[in-house]
Amino acid sequence: MGKVISLLNHKGGVGKTTSAINIGAGMVEMGRRSLLIDLDPQANLTISLGVHRQRVTIYEGLRGESELEPYTVREGLDVITSNLDLSGAEMELINEAGREYILRELLEPLREEYDFIIIDCPPSLGLLTLNALTSSDVVYIPLQTEFLALQGLAKIKQVIDKVRFRLNKGLHIGGVIATMYDARKVLNRDVVETIRKYFGDKVFKTLIRDNVALAEAPAHRKDIFSYNASSNGAEDYLALCKEIIERTETVEA
Ligand SMILES: Nc1ncnc2c1ncn2[C@@H]1O[C@H](COP(=O)(O)OP(=O)(O)O)[C@@H](O)[C@H]1O
Ligand SMILES: [Mg+2]
Repeated sequence: MGKVISLLNHKGGVGKTTSAINIGAGMVEMGRRSLLIDLDPQANLTISLGVHRQRVTIYEGLRGESELEPYTVREGLDVITSNLDLSGAEMELINEAGREYILRELLEPLREEYDFIIIDCPPSLGLLTLNALTSSDVVYIPLQTEFLALQGLAKIKQVIDKVRFRLNKGLHIGGVIATMYDARKVLNRDVVETIRKYFGDKVFKTLIRDNVALAEAPAHRKDIFSYNASSNGAEDYLALCKEIIERTETVEA
């Protein structure tokens, strides 16, 4: 049964999409099967992998028009695409009974087929994000190691607590990913220390370094392993995947 992971932070630009793609691809490097779900109407994940508009996107799925049809990017790595239509979904589904459970139901038949299902959340805490959280076993929070990294986190915790209480009893924060880290910057080191004080050992030991190859890969419509397997970015995301597998197989976090 695949583990469902949501990458959540309602701030934009913290590394959600980059992490979703490269954790998914890193798992494939380690012989696992991954399904990426693009749940952001801006479709950055879809575009970054160079996947063209599919007949069934996550939008048609959520609208109940079709079952999900994963598109294979490369062996072991599948994706459910998004597009701008999804921006209307929050309003359109507002009167739907059980509207927070739609994604969970859609993913049910797919869970058997993958080791990891990774949901790239939009930068908001609305109905799409609630659907992600209701579907997930764990939440990972990417934090950019810059000033104000922790700002707004109380709100994220509140939403996760509410979802756990009302919709998904098993949900918890399984990890915090420090991104765009530059060891030469005192500020970055200080922020990592603050993040570790706040989240303790939830913070993954692997720090995702600031690495230009990670920013370039989407322009070439590739994940980091296909774009530059010897980059720091590839090294970091592979190390992160190893940690995720360890956590998953030991403490079920
Ligand atoms: N570790 C990194 N090093 C350098 N650039 C990065 C790194 N992680 C992400 N980026 C770049 O930062 C920008 C924001 O990242 P993204 O993953 O799109 O964030 P989010 O999905 O949270 O909005 C993108 O242009 C991305 O390529
Ligand atoms: Mg994004």
